[in-house]
Amino acid sequence: MEGDILRYTTRVVSKYWKLAAAALLSVSLAAPVWAGTASAEAPAQQTSTAQTSTTELQAQGAAAGPVADRGLKYLVSEYETRTPSKYTAGSWKPFAKALRSADAVADDTSATKPEVAEAKTALMNAAGDLQAADEGTFQTITNNTFWNDTSGNPIYSQGGGVFKFGDTYYWYGVHYLGAESYRANPTRKYDGEVSFRSIPVYSSKDLVNWKFENRVATRSTPIQNGATLGQAGWVGRLGISYNENTGKYVLAVQAYVGGGHGVLLLQGDSPTDTFDYGYFQTQITNSPTTGTGDQTVFTDDDGKDYLIFSNREGRSRGFVAKFRESDSLRIEPGVEIRRGDGREGNAMFKLDGKYYHAASDLHGWNTSVNYVNESTSSNVQGSYSSEYVFAGTEMDYSHVTQTGFFVTVKGTKQNTVIYAGDRWADFAWNGIGYNQWVPITKTGARPQFHSVSQWQFNVTTGEWRVGPANNYILNPDIQADRIIVSSVRGWRNLGGSVTNVNGGVNGSRFALQVSNSGGVEQRIASVPAGNYTLGLHARGSAGQVVITDANGSQRTLNIPSSSGWAKRELTGIQLPSGAATVTVRASGSGGVVVDQLSLVKTSPDTPPPPGRYEAETAPAQCRGTIDSNQAGYSGSGFCNGDNAVGAFAEFTVNSETARTATLGIRFANGATTGARPANLVVNGSTAGALSFESTGAWTTWTTKTVTVSLNAGSNTIRLDPTTATGLPNVDYLDVG
Ligand code: GCU
Ligand code: CA
Repeated sequence: MEGDILRYTTRVVSKYWKLAAAALLSVSLAAPVWAGTASAEAPAQQTSTAQTSTTELQAQGAAAGPVADRGLKYLVSEYETRTPSKYTAGSWKPFAKALRSADAVADDTSATKPEVAEAKTALMNAAGDLQAADEGTFQTITNNTFWNDTSGNPIYSQGGGVFKFGDTYYWYGVHYLGAESYRANPTRKYDGEVSFRSIPVYSSKDLVNWKFENRVATRSTPIQNGATLGQAGWVGRLGISYNENTGKYVLAVQAYVGGGHGVLLLQGDSPTDTFDYGYFQTQITNSPTTGTGDQTVFTDDDGKDYLIFSNREGRSRGFVAKFRESDSLRIEPGVEIRRGDGREGNAMFKLDGKYYHAASDLHGWNTSVNYVNESTSSNVQGSYSSEYVFAGTEMDYSHVTQTGFFVTVKGTKQNTVIYAGDRWADFAWNGIGYNQWVPITKTGARPQFHSVSQWQFNVTTGEWRVGPANNYILNPDIQADRIIVSSVRGWRNLGGSVTNVNGGVNGSRFALQVSNSGGVEQRIASVPAGNYTLGLHARGSAGQVVITDANGSQRTLNIPSSSGWAKRELTGIQLPSGAATVTVRASGSGGVVVDQLSLVKTSPDTPPPPGRYEAETAPAQCRGTIDSNQAGYSGSGFCNGDNAVGAFAEFTVNSETARTATLGIRFANGATTGARPANLVVNGSTAGALSFESTGAWTTWTTKTVTVSLNAGSNTIRLDPTTATGLPNVDYLDVG
């Protein structure tokens, strides 16, 4: 086999470049096939043909060789449209070889019939052996929950980083005492529980399922001057640099130990080794102070590592520093890339060729927007733009976090950066050791932060999507502001009095209070079309929550007054795709207090069965209100007619022909006064009298059938109550 390939090498080479040149000219065809073949197959050939001029290539293209076998030629042209990314590299390689070999045979006027037949068979066999590429699988990341490792034990990893060695991601961070306390009792404040336990390392192939590997350092890890890491006043903000010269993994840890602030460098022989003391560097040249304000390790595309940090006092300067090339055991002089307001949580990511330095406000471990400086050259230590607010971090202070670190994933379909946020703000009872990860993409000129509470990620393709249980409301637990404010993050004041108050539901710290007939609203930029449930907990005076969809249609959830917390829910909200606005209003001067708001998609947007006309959907008319407070209805609500004669419900239905049709009217009658009679009026004429008997409860729905004559085209079907009790609640009309 190999011999056959070599025999045709010369011809293959010219043919290959002819096609490659053609592919460059015609964007649509086959470029990936040959691009893939070149990289996987023939580096030597690439070199030898690199000298061929473009003119020469075009001349070769014009003078195509005679067709030895039309069948083989056809087969080759068919297979040339296949793209390597769709197949595994292992199965693509022999296929690409067979294809090039067959192509050469087809072009060879001296090829014998057996040679043609052999090439054809070989090509067909290789095509049959092609294996579809791994499309990966979507794994779910759920924020605002405690994460466990693959053994079911808590993941304790704070302020660290994720590093990829080979095909495996390793996650390093700090396990603090407070993270344990917070897990055990999340509704308490934990002051001063940042005492160091260990630096665990977890491994994963998909960035979602993490296997505990080891504690690379513990309280008993020996450090400088005969001390141990347990004696350090602070251990945090760490990252790994792999050193090519020593083959060692060097952990750079922000530390305060023995009265000195600095970067503690520990080293191990493997990513999961027990690490040993390397060096404690107090001063990084060019930084005005010892130690670092905050720091992370950023690994560039070329494998080079940099320490990203701010100066410790004031934190007004941002630096990018190299690790010493010989052993990574020193931090080289810092190159200042920003100066201005104090920033911390300094971290770096690269997306589509640009470097982005992101950092938080100095909110004392608390949440804030992220600020970005982007590179204006191709050098990570070069110049950067002035600072701007990271889009998507404004409404809920970066999903109620401080910048932690970033992970860049290069998928087969797209590159996605993961923002790993730290929610360890003790001051707001947001807990210690609480990881919140969200995706970052770049669609326009700037990166976009997607504040999702649940999402699904495919590490193979790099694709992500919003998770089925995602809460579309931002800052739903009123946690983003760490202090009492009169304008709550993510919620726009509409008048009256607005504030966050102490004492949220389920022992949480804060809730949102609206009083003096006031209101707040949150505009959700985009929801997918579907059926939604709006939920919240409320106490205090009466109020209401209104959801307005992209078309301006509204649904209202009335909140009765309640001394204690009560859960309120509005189900079956049919939302078109686009923006949606949630408004919370106080009914009077008293304050309505709300917490744990949620807007969650409950089902895909399933089309109604043919012939079903919902009473809440135009052109249907309801003289009364469209309600959704009696469970069991279909669609997004039902017609609650006024209790009066003349309060009708009307449907407009279409019939292709004049015919007799069976109607099904779904209703509920929970009235204690018995049946609610009504006339059935078809196209303005009374067609019969119906008795809508009691169904026993307003939530018990039943369907009454009746036969009517329909005209061809549009027909109106109206239910006209004949007594002052009005109609039952009417859900829909089925036209059989
Ligand atoms: C109750 C019930 C309504 C119903 C009304 C009525 O108020 O909640 O859904 O329409 O009675 O008697 O008509
Ligand atoms: Ca009614």
